[in-house]
Amino acid sequence: MSRMVLAYSGGLDTSVLLKRLIAEGHEVVAMTANLGESDAVAGAGAEAELERVREKALALGAYDAVVIDARTRFVTQYVQPALAANALYEGVYPLSAALSRPLIAALLVETAHAYGAPVVAHGCTGKGNDQVRIELGVRGLDPAIAVRAPLREAPLSRPDAIAYAHAHGIPIAHTTAKPYSIDANLWGRSIEAGVLEDPWAGVPEDAYAWTAAPAARPAQADEIVLAFEAGAFRVAHADQHDVPAQTIAWLNARAGAHGVGRIDLVEDRVIGVKSREVYEAPAATVLIAAHKALERLTLTRDELRFKALADQRYAELAYDGLWLSPLRTALDAFNATCASRMTGEVRVRLHQGSAVVVGVRSPFALYDEALATYGAGDAFDHAAAGGFITCYGLPLDRVARVNAAPALV
Ligand code: ARG
Repeated sequence: MSRMVLAYSGGLDTSVLLKRLIAEGHEVVAMTANLGESDAVAGAGAEAELERVREKALALGAYDAVVIDARTRFVTQYVQPALAANALYEGVYPLSAALSRPLIAALLVETAHAYGAPVVAHGCTGKGNDQVRIELGVRGLDPAIAVRAPLREAPLSRPDAIAYAHAHGIPIAHTTAKPYSIDANLWGRSIEAGVLEDPWAGVPEDAYAWTAAPAARPAQADEIVLAFEAGAFRVAHADQHDVPAQTIAWLNARAGAHGVGRIDLVEDRVIGVKSREVYEAPAATVLIAAHKALERLTLTRDELRFKALADQRYAELAYDGLWLSPLRTALDAFNATCASRMTGEVRVRLHQGSAVVVGVRSPFALYDEALATYGAGDAFDHAAAGGFITCYGLPLDRVARVNAAPALV
C-alpha cells in the first residue's frame, strides 16, 4: 500500500484509473488543475464544474481530492514566456497542451510533497507527447518521485472503460458518441482522433467549439488595439481586463467570433509518429501576430535574425518535453533583453478567419520615417550607398573576375 497522487480530469479514463489504483490498495489523492479550460471563452460556471470533479473523486473513494487554480501561474510562468518567444511548433501550433504539461507535473510534485506520497500517476497513453512532458517534468523537479502510467502498462479500450465504469459505479456523462480527443486550456483547444485521422478528410465543423463557422462570421471586420508594456499585454480599450488570464479569455471570445485561430496540422510527435492535429487558439494567434509585429518595429535586424532561430528552438523544447532544460531558461533570459523594449500598441483587424496587423507604434520604434521615406524630407544619405556597395560587393567582384579569366595552361 502506498500513497500516490493522480492527475485527475474527472473524465472516464482517469475515473477508471482512480478506481483501479484504489482497488490495487493505494491511497490515491486526485489532483485536478484549473487551467482555464472552461472559462477560456465563456467564463461562467467553471468553479462549480471543478467542484463536481472533486466530489466525484471523493465519491469514487479517493483518499483526498484537490482542485488547484493554476490559471494565473499558467499564464505568467508558461504562456507569457512562450509569447515572448513567439512559440509556434512547426510554425503554427501555439503549444497550448505542451505548455500545460510541465505545470501539471509541478502541481503533481507539489501535491506529492504535501501528502508525503512517493508516487505520482497520470492517464496518458504510450503514444503521445504528454507522457514525455509530464514524466520529464516530474524528474526535472524531484527525481526521487516515481511515476506510474497505468494506461501505458495496460492500454484501456473505450468499450472496456465503459464496461469497467458500469461494473464499478462510475457515472458516465451521457454523451453517446465521443468522436474526438479534446484537451483545452486558456491558450488553446486541441482536437484529435476520430475522422481527423485521415489527413485527406476536411475538418468537420463539429470539431470546433471556440471559433465561428464561416457562415456564422460577421460580415463586418472588427478592430482591436493591443497594448504591450515591457512584454506584458492588455487590450487597450477594454481596461476592465487587467488580469492577463481574463484578457486571454476575452480575446478567445472576440477573435473566435470571427473564426480566427483555426489550425490544421500534420505534426511530428516526440515519439516519432506523425499525427493530424487540429487546434483552436484565437487569443494565441492574435497575440503572437501582434507581438511579432511589435518586435519588427523595435528590434534590430541582427536581433530579429537570431531571435527567429531561437524562437524555433524554444518551441521545440516546449513541445519535446524539455521545458526544464537550462537552454530554455537561457533563451528566456535572451527574450527578456528584447522584452524591455516590447512597449507599444498594435492594431489588429479580425475578419473572416484572419487576424491581420494593420498598425503598430512604439516609443522604442527603430523605424524612422525620415530615413525610410520616398517623399519630401528624406534624410537618408543616398551618395553613401555607392561606396557601401563597392566594398560590400568585392567578394562577388573577385569571383566573377576569376571565373572569367582564361584557365591556366
Ligand atoms: N498534439 C498536441 C500536443 O502534443 C495536443 C495533445 C493534446 N492531448 C490530447 N489528449 N488531445 O501538444
